[in-house]
Amino acid sequence: MEIRKIERIVVCGAGTMGSGIAQVAATAGYQVVQFDLNEAVLLAASQRIRKNLEKLQEKGKITQEEFQGILNKIQFTNQLTDCKGELIIEAIIEKKEAKINLFNQLITVNSPDTILASNTSSISIDAIASGIDIPAQLVGLHFFNPAPLMKLVEIIQGKETNPAIVQSMVSLVASMQKKPVICKDSPGFIVNRVARPYYLESMYLVQSGQANVEQTDKVLEAAGFKMGPFKLMDLIGLDINYSVSTIVWEDLGKPERLKPSIIQKEKIDLGQYGVKTKKGFYDYE
Ligand SMILES: NC(=O)c1ccc[n+]([C@@H]2O[C@H](COP(=O)([O-])OP(=O)(O)OC[C@H]3O[C@@H](n4cnc5c(N)ncnc54)[C@H](O)[C@@H]3O)[C@@H](O)[C@H]2O)c1
Repeated sequence: MEIRKIERIVVCGAGTMGSGIAQVAATAGYQVVQFDLNEAVLLAASQRIRKNLEKLQEKGKITQEEFQGILNKIQFTNQLTDCKGELIIEAIIEKKEAKINLFNQLITVNSPDTILASNTSSISIDAIASGIDIPAQLVGLHFFNPAPLMKLVEIIQGKETNPAIVQSMVSLVASMQKKPVICKDSPGFIVNRVARPYYLESMYLVQSGQANVEQTDKVLEAAGFKMGPFKLMDLIGLDINYSVSTIVWEDLGKPERLKPSIIQKEKIDLGQYGVKTKKGFYDYE
């Protein structure tokens, strides 16, 4: 199937990742539809993007015209019927069924050559593809947090993904001034597979009373990591990080060394997801 020129990008989910991806896409000159079911989340996303752009303007990185131009490119909506574009990037909850369900709804309002991209951190692209009507149109497009700052984007090629779509995503990511890396569809892809022990081992250390949260972060940062594991998990969202750990663990056959952490589960059960709920391993104003 022909690859259409990408002009309009629909970003589904306006949370931590979706709002960042919307900002990146608008900054690169694309028209953006930012969709979320939750009105309060949409409002928070528009405020977050405005604040980020204000900071860039203060630093002289963008002009007043560019600031306004980027904001004008983003339409915020809670209506699925507005979600029409040449490319759809979903960044909703890390649950396979939710993603499949959303893609199947989006397919009904888009043409069959629309590219469907998932920002999933860990769910198999083949598993999502098996639930949708146009599996060859699906690709993984894994941005990192915070999306406006992080350069890497993993592009995941599923068994059925049209290779021309993978190439089109390589060009798209480059047009966003980011670094595309094509990955196989394996559990956690590359970064989340390698990073799992960083989070898990830190939590085992604290759970066993051999170190505390602040001390572990301090030591790892002094050792050269940009963020300690607990600060990073709070930024990612404990709910997302726990889902990713669980999916990678299950998909690898439940090895003991990658078992998800009970102390993370306890925080989630208390509704403490990190920065986004203002409480996680740390408290935020
Ligand atoms: N948080 C990270 O650091 C990170 C990094 C890379 C990738 N990801 C991936 O990105 C995706 C989103 O993660 P996040 O951290 O932004 O989550 P989040 O919880 O911050 O945001 C998810 C948003 O999706 C919305 N949503 C849920 N169901 C929806 C639906 N059916 N239609 C429209 N909106 C819906 C929710 O209202 C919420 O605002 C996940 O797949 C995650 O694995 C997260």
